[in-house]
Amino acid sequence: MQELESKKIIALMSGTSCDSIDAGLCIVNPDLSCRLVHGINYKYPEHIQAKLFQLFSGDATVKDICQMNFAVGKCFAQACNVIISEHGKPDFISSHGQTIYHFPFDEKLDGISLKSTLQIGESSVIAQETGCLTISNFREADIANGGDGAPLVCFADEKWFKPLKKNFCVQNIGGISNVTVVSKEHATFGFDTGPGNVLIDYAVKKYFNKPYDENGEIANSGMISESWLECLLQDEYYFKNPPKTTGREYFSSEYIENALRFAPKEPKDVVATLTALTAKSIAQAYERFVYPSVDINEVVIGGGGAYNHALMKYLRHYLPKHVDLKTHEAYGISNNFKEVMAFALLGYCTYYNITNNLPDCTGARKRTVLGKVANC
Ligand SMILES: Nc1ncnc2c1ncn2[C@@H]1O[C@H](COP(=O)(O)OP(=O)(O)O)[C@@H](O)[C@H]1O
Ligand SMILES: [Mg+2]
Repeated sequence: MQELESKKIIALMSGTSCDSIDAGLCIVNPDLSCRLVHGINYKYPEHIQAKLFQLFSGDATVKDICQMNFAVGKCFAQACNVIISEHGKPDFISSHGQTIYHFPFDEKLDGISLKSTLQIGESSVIAQETGCLTISNFREADIANGGDGAPLVCFADEKWFKPLKKNFCVQNIGGISNVTVVSKEHATFGFDTGPGNVLIDYAVKKYFNKPYDENGEIANSGMISESWLECLLQDEYYFKNPPKTTGREYFSSEYIENALRFAPKEPKDVVATLTALTAKSIAQAYERFVYPSVDINEVVIGGGGAYNHALMKYLRHYLPKHVDLKTHEAYGISNNFKEVMAFALLGYCTYYNITNNLPDCTGARKRTVLGKVANC
């Protein structure tokens, strides 16, 4: 077997929020530890981002998807080149891509499974425009093995939190929220708890014409409608047993518009209630699916939701008093670049042919080496 060495990797991530391409230069070491050297939030050009939201809404042709795969690849390459101009070339690039559709359901057509996922941002474009070998398309191999292709970050959470010998819920709050349960005694498992910022962002855009509720100020100025909150919490997704994943296909504009028909009148109360929904659905997911098997000591939050003070306040309120609530920063991991660091690690494993999925998180039949290589 090839001897492992530390590698300089630029990792690229753009999540369901589609707020920016997060790019980070990371050093990944043979013990699978990872250090972020420099990270940037590279904004999509306005019209590209608008076109992506059009793809999400389903109002797109095959031609749009084909063109956007290459256009997003160029944007990802531009983000890399910003880092390369300052820090030089990495050993290779690891790109998650931009998810435009994720369908983890076992529906069949002529007996053939339609379970599938699609991340765009053509890796050959990234490789050619940067001159760096590029690893990408991690989710497909897990689905090909019967898994959901998500959540993949659990692999990194296990590597980084297991040695700390506590029982953690490592909770990412991006567009969608996902948890990894890392404990002393049990095998690591994880699942998507439900919406992250996706509903909040939608309402804030609709009523306040802002991209997100900065620091949770709008939610903090509003009042939670307990009756609407309880109604929203009846959604069947929250009751489904893990492993489970979800996305924008489920928590879609139609879903939100439908829910808004029963919303309180004041827009700030709508934002407060949707923020409470994100927090309470996370807390309830732990009560249903985590606490019965694992005695949790600590919840560690990452992703953009960690910056929403109202969301953090509600989480503190809904979690049991004895559970500590921290963010990744307490462990020297950037809340903003946590997933970037995770995909640097996944790419490192692909490069060295080390399995990098966790079947207890994705439901796959076996451990597999995820990811494909585009040469430059
Ligand atoms: N300062 C902030 N205050 C409140 N919310 C924030 C802040 N910064 C980021 N966010 C939220 O986090 C989201 C982006 O989180 P991110 O982890 O990048 O998600 P994704 O992986 O889906 O792109 C934004 O859309 C916004 O809702
Ligand atoms: Mg993002």
